[in-house]
Amino acid sequence: MSGSLILRVRAALSAIKDPSSGRNIIAAGAVGGLSADEDGKVRFTLEVPDGDRRAAEALLKAAESAAAAVPGVTGVSAVATAHSAAQQHQPAKGGHDNPFGLKQKPRIETAGEQLAGVKSMIAIASGKGGVGKSTVAANLAVSLAARGLKTGLLDADIYGPSLPTLFGIKGKPQMRDNKIVPFEAFNVKLMSIGFLIDPDEAVAWRGPMVMGALRQLMSDVDWGDLDILLVDTPPGTGDAHISLIQSKKLSGAVIVSTPQEMALADVRRGVQLFRQTDTPVIGVIENMAWLETPDGSKQFLFGEGGAERAAKELGAPFLGTVPLYPDLRQASDDGLPPAATDHAAATTFNQLADQIVKFTERR
Ligand SMILES: Nc1ncnc2c1ncn2[C@@H]1O[C@H](COP(=O)(O)OP(=O)(O)O)[C@@H](O)[C@H]1O
Ligand SMILES: [Mg+2]
Repeated sequence: MSGSLILRVRAALSAIKDPSSGRNIIAAGAVGGLSADEDGKVRFTLEVPDGDRRAAEALLKAAESAAAAVPGVTGVSAVATAHSAAQQHQPAKGGHDNPFGLKQKPRIETAGEQLAGVKSMIAIASGKGGVGKSTVAANLAVSLAARGLKTGLLDADIYGPSLPTLFGIKGKPQMRDNKIVPFEAFNVKLMSIGFLIDPDEAVAWRGPMVMGALRQLMSDVDWGDLDILLVDTPPGTGDAHISLIQSKKLSGAVIVSTPQEMALADVRRGVQLFRQTDTPVIGVIENMAWLETPDGSKQFLFGEGGAERAAKELGAPFLGTVPLYPDLRQASDDGLPPAATDHAAATTFNQLADQIVKFTERR
């Protein structure tokens, strides 16, 4: 039923012209993540022209109205994303609620309440897959737990769960009093969508199913009291992020990127999404920043300092770099996060964890 509703919404949206390309917004590829749930609530993202705020708002409004007018649609939640790099935001002068110092109207309703018992819930996001988001999330969690913070890690990457591998965990979690008991390793409470479903199946999931699974991972898991719950989100800025933001309040988001230009366009999109929902962007981490060679020199395989420049351009804090360690992949595949060892990466991750702690203490 929601499948045909999506088709009708697509048809309605294709009547709207994208001012920058002159084509309709569907043909121009400006509409992303279109989904409809059983109740007729429709969600999508819309790439809008950057720089011209009024044109962007008019386009978003037109798209929302067109979708809302489709019979069977009971509600529309559309998120604008910008598609060009020319962002001229002033960094914040003070205060940390909004690190960008700009007041932007939230376009997505955000959840008012926090997950019970969890002091700070922080999303780890990336524009693309394969940038090391899960590796960074896992090692940050281990570092945070090592300093005595009650830490949880929720692997919400429906399409590519990797926490079971990163921590070498097999099998299904236990149930206690109708709640799922998280696994525990290196003092981190762990839960992954990968423990519950087959990732090959999840690829075909529709928006509402993704949402249901995410909700279950948050509310049906016995997290207990946690200082910090890190959430490893799927790459990109799609349905899962929006559902996450709408179901429980996020304290902040960390964006992981590699230095390449391609990845950076995605950083911008990520920052934009969180900004529009009033979720503070804690900062950007640049992973695989350089290769450290045995003679101690650095090889910048993907260019130098790209993520830092993008962060600056977006007025987002830059948290630091993680070099490319040739042996890190093996450690990850062996289920032993380097942060739990005397690997050189442990120092790097500890420094990044410091910044997360500082952020939570400021709040
Ligand atoms: N800093 C790094 N040095 C070396 N290998 C890394 C580094 N970060 C990630 N990797 C490796 O890159 C691959 C992708 O990382 P992963 O964390 O799964 O990415 P994502 O979650 O963004 O898809 C994995 O094999 C991982 O071990
Ligand atoms: Mg991953």
